[in-house]
Amino acid sequence: MKNYTCHFSMLVAIMLLIISCSSPEDITPDPVNDDREYIPLKELFKDHFPIGAAVTPNHMDSRTPHGRTLIEHFNSLVAENVMKPDALQRVKGTYTWTNADRIVQFAKENDMKVRGHTLTWHSQTPDWFFYDENGDLHTPEVAMKQLEEHITTVVSRYKGDVYAWDVVNEAMFDWDPNGQIIYREDSPWYKIMGPAYIDSAFVYARRADPDAKLFYNDYNSIFSWKRNKIYDLVKRLKDNNIPIDGVGLQGHWNVGVSEQDIRTTLDLFRDLGVEIQITELDLSVYLSSDEPGSEVYTDAFNLRQKIAYPMIMKILLDYSDIITGVTFWGIGDDVTWLDRPGRRHFPFLLDEQLKPKPAYLEVQKLIRR
Ligand code: XIL
Repeated sequence: MKNYTCHFSMLVAIMLLIISCSSPEDITPDPVNDDREYIPLKELFKDHFPIGAAVTPNHMDSRTPHGRTLIEHFNSLVAENVMKPDALQRVKGTYTWTNADRIVQFAKENDMKVRGHTLTWHSQTPDWFFYDENGDLHTPEVAMKQLEEHITTVVSRYKGDVYAWDVVNEAMFDWDPNGQIIYREDSPWYKIMGPAYIDSAFVYARRADPDAKLFYNDYNSIFSWKRNKIYDLVKRLKDNNIPIDGVGLQGHWNVGVSEQDIRTTLDLFRDLGVEIQITELDLSVYLSSDEPGSEVYTDAFNLRQKIAYPMIMKILLDYSDIITGVTFWGIGDDVTWLDRPGRRHFPFLLDEQLKPKPAYLEVQKLIRR
């Protein structure tokens, strides 16, 4: 028995040695200090696509660490919240532009593009868009008129400044493996008029700025049950001459994301002749929601991101003929909408100090060896 235990522990030790020696050979050991050379993200991908970040107005100051980081690494911005309907037109007929303007102004000063997010959504949209003073849903005519007025006003204001709009956000039903339910039927937009609001929103946006790129944007869009619905929607829009230029894949993924799912999705949309943007990229360190949360960035998380991030970026480079933008849903790991107490997600290439993470250097190797 004793002998058996001894043999067993030797075997375990040998196996550990083999595992530690056989980690993929082009995974660089972590730097011991910060002075490894890195190339800013926007430089790295300059021949392929703009690199964006979702921002808040208080980032719009070159004297702050966030402002400086934006200028160093990013050449595209999107408002994380302040261009949503509840931010721009909380009260019917009263528009609040200050915050959105700050982002557009900062982008101009620093030679960055701006994506507009978002014109039509069931969430972060004031009730007056949907309900009358008695709490009843508006008629389709009233709701459509209000949507037209909102889209026309917002898109016209930023004509020439916002180069791409998420015209409709998250209109498809999310979890439905059997494919029975197509649209998000609990959206008040849908309850009022069925899917007609989708078509109209694109028409209004095109009319207000014929040069802006118009996107349909959604999450979970790389999974078969949802990507096929999005495909059918976009095909229907195109067949009906509704102006749509592209599909935004939000990219709220985790380190277990499947290469095949992403490639299959990009192949599918390539057939439709639309451009693709990754619009809200954040790569959680957890493999599933069942995995226990952590407040610290563990070695395991680091290793996972060192493998998953270059895998993803390699795919995006492979499809850079149809990918016209990649936007992170934040800047660095210090702030992300994903975090909860006891469960931080560390989803970006820049750490909490806004410094490149080891995964960043792995991504860099895809381009500069
Ligand atoms: C999120 C913001 O990050 C949060 O700050 C806000 O509280 C809720 O919305 N899909 C979208 C984004 O299209 O607008 C969402 O942004 C994240 C999911």
